[in-house]
Amino acid sequence: MTGHNIHTAAEYLRAGEVVAIPTETVYGLAANIYNEDAVKKIYSIKERPLSNPLIVHVGTMEQVYELTTAFSDEAKKLAAAFWPGPLTIILPKAGKVPDIITASQDTVAVRMPAHELTLALLKILEFPLAAPSANKFMYISPVEASAVEEMLGDEVKYILDGGACQRGIESTIVRLTKDGVQILRQGAVTEEMIRAKTGLEVTSNDAAAIAHPGMHKKHYSPRTRLVVTGDIPGALKAFENKNVAYLVIADTFDIPATVKAKMLSASGNLEEAAQHLYGSLYELDKEGYDLIVAEKFPDHGIGRAVNERLQKAAASL
Ligand code: TXA
Ligand code: MG
Repeated sequence: MTGHNIHTAAEYLRAGEVVAIPTETVYGLAANIYNEDAVKKIYSIKERPLSNPLIVHVGTMEQVYELTTAFSDEAKKLAAAFWPGPLTIILPKAGKVPDIITASQDTVAVRMPAHELTLALLKILEFPLAAPSANKFMYISPVEASAVEEMLGDEVKYILDGGACQRGIESTIVRLTKDGVQILRQGAVTEEMIRAKTGLEVTSNDAAAIAHPGMHKKHYSPRTRLVVTGDIPGALKAFENKNVAYLVIADTFDIPATVKAKMLSASGNLEEAAQHLYGSLYELDKEGYDLIVAEKFPDHGIGRAVNERLQKAAASL
C-alpha cells in the first residue's frame, strides 16, 4: 500500500514491519534498528548479504549520542554543517547497537535525512530506523514511490510517498581519520562542500572504499547493457545500426530525431542532471534497448559522485 500517512507508517514499524520511506537522496527500506526480525526482513527483501551493514537514520541529535561512544569535534562540525542532509558519518558504535545493523563491526553509519515527512516520522518513533536504498541488491536505487511500488510493492507493507527525491543520488559516506575526513562513497555532499563548510581536510581513497563491506564493484545497474562515454558523437557512429538509447546531460549534441535520447538537464545544471539520473535510467531500462549509452559527467562537484555510480553501473560482473 502506498500513502502519505506517517502514523500508518509508524504503526507498521512498531509492529516489526518494513516500510519504504522517502529521503532527499533515494527511497529507503526501513525497520526498527532494535527489532532483529524486522531488520532481517530488510536483508531478505533486498536479497542483500548480511555482511553489508546498514545506515541508521535519526531524527534528533539525542538519538545520535545514544548510538555512539564518541562524537568528536570533527563529527560535530560535519553534523552542524550538513544535518539534516545527505551525509553519512561512520562513528564508533555504542554497545546497544545490534550487530545485525553493523555487520558485527565496531562502527555504525549514521545520518539525519533532510525530508520533511521522514523527519516527522522519525520524531514520533521511539527508535531510529535502519534503511538501505529500497532497491534489490545491485539494481538502480528508486527516486519515486512508484518505482518502489513496481520493484518491491508485494514485499513491503507500506510505502510512504514523499514525492520525487530532491537529490536523486545517495548520501556521501565519510569516516574520520587522523588526517581529516575520508570519503568512502562519493555522494550528494561534495568534497568541495565539506572543505568550504567545515575547513576540515578531505581525502578520498578509492582503495579503502572498495575494500569496505558493501562497496562492491558492480552496483546501481540497469539490466540493459550500459556504456559510459565522453564521446557521444563517436558512439552515435559506432552504434548506428543498433537499438540504442542515449542519456545525455544537456542539449549539446546533434542527435538525429529517429534516435531515442533523454536529456538530464535542459540548462546543463549538474545537480539537476544528477537528480534525474536514476529515474531516467530506470525508465530506459524498462523500454528494452540493446544498449544504453550514458554521457560521462565532468569530474568535479557532484559529477564525481555520478561518475562513480555510472562506472559501477557499467561494470560487468
Ligand atoms: O542516501 C543514502 O545513503 C541512502 C538513503 C536511503 O539514506 N541509503 C543507502 O544505503 O544508500 P545503502 O545500504 O544502499 O548503502 C549504504 C552503504 C553500504 O555500502 C554499506 O556498506 C555502507 O553504507 N556502510 C554501512 N555501515 C557502514 C560502516 N559501519 N562502515 C562502513 N560502511 C558502512
Ligand atoms: Mg544502495
